[in-house]
Amino acid sequence: MSQKQPVITIDGASGTGKGVVSQLVAKQLGWQLLDSGALYRVLALAAQKHGVALDNEPSLAILAEHLDVQFVATETGMPPEVLLESEDVTDVIRTEKMGNAASKVSVFPSVRQALLSRQRTFQEPPGLVADGRDMGTVVFPDAELKIFLIASPEERAERRYNQLKEKGINVNLSDLIQELYERDKRDQERPVAPLKPADDAICIDTDHLTIEEVVGAILSEWRRYGAT
Ligand code: DC
Repeated sequence: MSQKQPVITIDGASGTGKGVVSQLVAKQLGWQLLDSGALYRVLALAAQKHGVALDNEPSLAILAEHLDVQFVATETGMPPEVLLESEDVTDVIRTEKMGNAASKVSVFPSVRQALLSRQRTFQEPPGLVADGRDMGTVVFPDAELKIFLIASPEERAERRYNQLKEKGINVNLSDLIQELYERDKRDQERPVAPLKPADDAICIDTDHLTIEEVVGAILSEWRRYGAT
């Protein structure tokens, strides 16, 4: 690749809507999409499959280095299918259990390092929307536009609850609030690449906005960037 492709990073905690917002922004622009959380989720699943404990950093790093994961494009704008060792794990990785396991494996510096170059390979023409926790701070520090989505804990728990219910996954709202609290704390307090806005990120409070309004706000920031 001779020319650097533009990148929009969209970071934020679980339940801020960044997954669906990132998909829609990528669809509108016709750009590539990196769902970095899916990589950590697949790694957690691979650890479970191969009997690697979630606190065994050296083995997790080796597993991350050799992770046989593929994102297979489906309909344009729809999330890709995720394959682990050729097996379709698209739905399996979406449970809260897998989100928490992903948060646990993601605290280790060598695991994050092992996934770094793989994430950067997504920067392909005509541009990339990168969704995660450290897209703007670590993985794509030179991104043209950095967005950080925020929402109150109550709002996020309710959104996650509705999302999971829609998928037919049964959860208890108070357990979900507790798990969300623990996951946020772990993601924010880890020493390497913690969840936080980049210094040059634009923070958008999504509490009283619809998904479409958040997407619209990001696209108008992008147009404004293009105009400068
Ligand atoms: O975005 P998500 O809920 O799918 O992410 C699952 C976990 O993976 C999240 O709790 C922390 C970790 N993660 C990370 O450490 N860095 C990223 N860029 C994306 C996710």
